[in-house]
Amino acid sequence: MPFFNDLDLKDWKNIEVWTDSLWIIPQRDKTGKHNGFYHGNFIPQIPRQLILRYSKKGEVVFDPFVGSGTTAIEAEALGRHFIGIDIQPELILHCKNMVGKTDCFSEFVVGDSADSDTFDNIAEILLKKRKTKVQLAILHPPYADIIKFSEHKKDLSNCKTLDMFLEKFSQVIVNTIRILDKNRYLAIVIGDKYTNGQWVPLGFQCMNEALKNGLTLKSIIVKNMEGNRAKQNKEAIWRYRALTSDYYIFKHEYIFLFKKTDIRNANQRSKI
Ligand SMILES: C[S@@+](CC[C@H](N)C(=O)[O-])C[C@H]1O[C@@H](n2cnc3c(N)ncnc32)[C@H](O)[C@@H]1O
Repeated sequence: MPFFNDLDLKDWKNIEVWTDSLWIIPQRDKTGKHNGFYHGNFIPQIPRQLILRYSKKGEVVFDPFVGSGTTAIEAEALGRHFIGIDIQPELILHCKNMVGKTDCFSEFVVGDSADSDTFDNIAEILLKKRKTKVQLAILHPPYADIIKFSEHKKDLSNCKTLDMFLEKFSQVIVNTIRILDKNRYLAIVIGDKYTNGQWVPLGFQCMNEALKNGLTLKSIIVKNMEGNRAKQNKEAIWRYRALTSDYYIFKHEYIFLFKKTDIRNANQRSKI
């Protein structure tokens, strides 16, 4: 039995946890507190699956790009403690108003997740809660500059170049590793982008930052990206554009799953 979850394997054939590396999710879960108002949020099934598989009740889930709080809602529903960070104060206020009173705590911090001072604050919160580390980290960063999330200059979506974005993202990974328990898991949810007539493999570039920081890659999950274009009735125009050009339309994103094993090579980004 794995030590990192509390799945009841007596009925293992019917358990609601996915174990394949291809996630075709036909519909966004809109139940409970999820209303999908935030442009750039992820679908609740992603954090739900990760939380069920890689944490136990009463453990701490951490999200350094909390946005509208999708991970927080799932953590609360599944009886996990939660800590989230976002650069935008109004989103943190929204998240604070959204969580209810349960036996588990949900803490939200306004800050720059690439800044180690923000994580001093997180370490203090953990200490006050009589915890030392978090047991699962879920990172859903801006996809570089595809969606500009705010005017804040520390917002990763405002990085002027891809290299600057990757450097900042790497810093978020380093900070997260600091508060993650050994032998526990960190997931990155990210897609690629298309710029100046070129496919930019942003997903693999972000994956590479995690590898450079010493994390062990356990899985690459490909998930489908249905919905948005269909919702906006833009499927046909995208297909027409593709047929008149030489590229394929993005239909997938990645979930990279890492384990914090022996981090001897952490902080080596600049040397690689
Ligand atoms: C892709 S969204 C996350 C959405 C979230 N998973 C949800 O379901 O609502 C990325 C978030 O990262 C935040 N962000 C950007 N740069 C940041 C930084 N340096 N530190 C903390 N948060 C940041 C943005 O404000 C945005 O809300």
